[in-house]
Amino acid sequence: MTTLIKDLPSHIGEEISIAGWMYNRRSSKKLHFLQLRDGSGTVQGVVVKSEANEETWSAAGEATMESSVRIGGEVRKDERSPTGVELAVTSVEILALAQEYPISKKEHGIDFLLDNRHLWLRSRKQCAVLRVRARLIKACRDFLDDAGFTLVDAPIFTPNACEGTTSLFETDYFGSKAYLTQSGQLYMEAAAMALGRVYCFGPTFRAEKSKTRRHLTEFWMIEPEVAFNDWKDNMDLQERFMRAIVGRVLEECAEDLKVLERDLAPLEAISSPFPRITYTDAVATLKEKGQEIEWGDDFGAEHETVLSEVHGKPVFVHHYPAKVKAFYMKPDPDNEELALCNDLLAPEGYGEIIGAGQRMDDLDMLLAKIEEHGLPIEPFQWFLDLRRYGTVPHSGFGMGIERAVAWVCGLKHVRECIPFPRTMYRNTP
Ligand code: 4AD
Ligand code: MG
Repeated sequence: MTTLIKDLPSHIGEEISIAGWMYNRRSSKKLHFLQLRDGSGTVQGVVVKSEANEETWSAAGEATMESSVRIGGEVRKDERSPTGVELAVTSVEILALAQEYPISKKEHGIDFLLDNRHLWLRSRKQCAVLRVRARLIKACRDFLDDAGFTLVDAPIFTPNACEGTTSLFETDYFGSKAYLTQSGQLYMEAAAMALGRVYCFGPTFRAEKSKTRRHLTEFWMIEPEVAFNDWKDNMDLQERFMRAIVGRVLEECAEDLKVLERDLAPLEAISSPFPRITYTDAVATLKEKGQEIEWGDDFGAEHETVLSEVHGKPVFVHHYPAKVKAFYMKPDPDNEELALCNDLLAPEGYGEIIGAGQRMDDLDMLLAKIEEHGLPIEPFQWFLDLRRYGTVPHSGFGMGIERAVAWVCGLKHVRECIPFPRTMYRNTP
């Protein structure tokens, strides 16, 4: 039976067998110190020449970095090791001897690492990021499931441009045009009229031609949509959601955040209310800070960075000018130039992690907006039906998983926050 490395502390004094990979070895004439990992943890195995049989001693010396091995031995208490145990090795079986491993302890450039992403994933930090990502996704889903939401999967092929026409990936769909989805939102609006509170979680696609640290061409988004919620209820929901998911990660990923050397203070700051400022006030703040911006401009990456450094915690910016936002936003009845929408900016310069808003629920106004945005009406007829048959105020939001992971892990670039990143310049490995 194979024992997982993480379970070794409960087997002290026992003879066990583990299976994994060698990630390092230090050797002297009398001793081999094997560093072993199996995905659940790491442990040091000690081979003593005077005690080991010849086969074990020579296999321990031959196993190269990243060779797969099966190791037998006795679990011993070791106060100096972080897990409190080490392995007194009695047998070493090399399952597959690895060729010279391309990734070493020396500094590698980011392009080299991304070219070798399939191998880079094995490193301690990358494993920590993958675990945080998995936990964060589970936290999102648990929060929504517990709050009475139903998971509804949105299609990937769609005839609808949800987030503007400039970032569409177009594909031939048996002779007609289809796009890879930019967002599941429109389908969630349909599902919310059936089930009330719904969300989708899946990959979304944008032909982003910009090379920024925040943009991928394929990213994962979680998108809740709620019938009868207005734009304020929507911000309340986002705040509860963020607090719950960051709280869960803090609770469950302490080890991983330590590996990532993450300063926890900014994550812990989410327990107090998030400031809510209008777009108009945000523009004034930016001007005070010497940024070049005029009322009516959309925020650029630099603007978001500056704004998100002001408060030390996530901040809502609401009431953007309708003309910088998508067609489906409901205008403020008191000032039609403004949309009942918000972005949530993460602190520490991370910028937008959530895009949100109340949806246009009036049939004629929605029709006019679709036309104004130069979108074809026909593919939106089904969406217009939602306004024809029992339309209600409703709102929702979308959080990009990679941006959330980048912030939580304290990583500068989203490319490390997804197992196999896709950007304008990369779709391999
Ligand atoms: O602000 P966005 O475009 O909003 C929507 O797609 C809405 N339909 C969501 C909704 O209301 N259901 O995107 C939402 C979030 C952003 O805040 C960001 O976190 C992420 O998706 N995002 C990206 N992440 C990585 N790479 C990109 N190219 C991204 N574009 C958006
Ligand atoms: Mg947005």
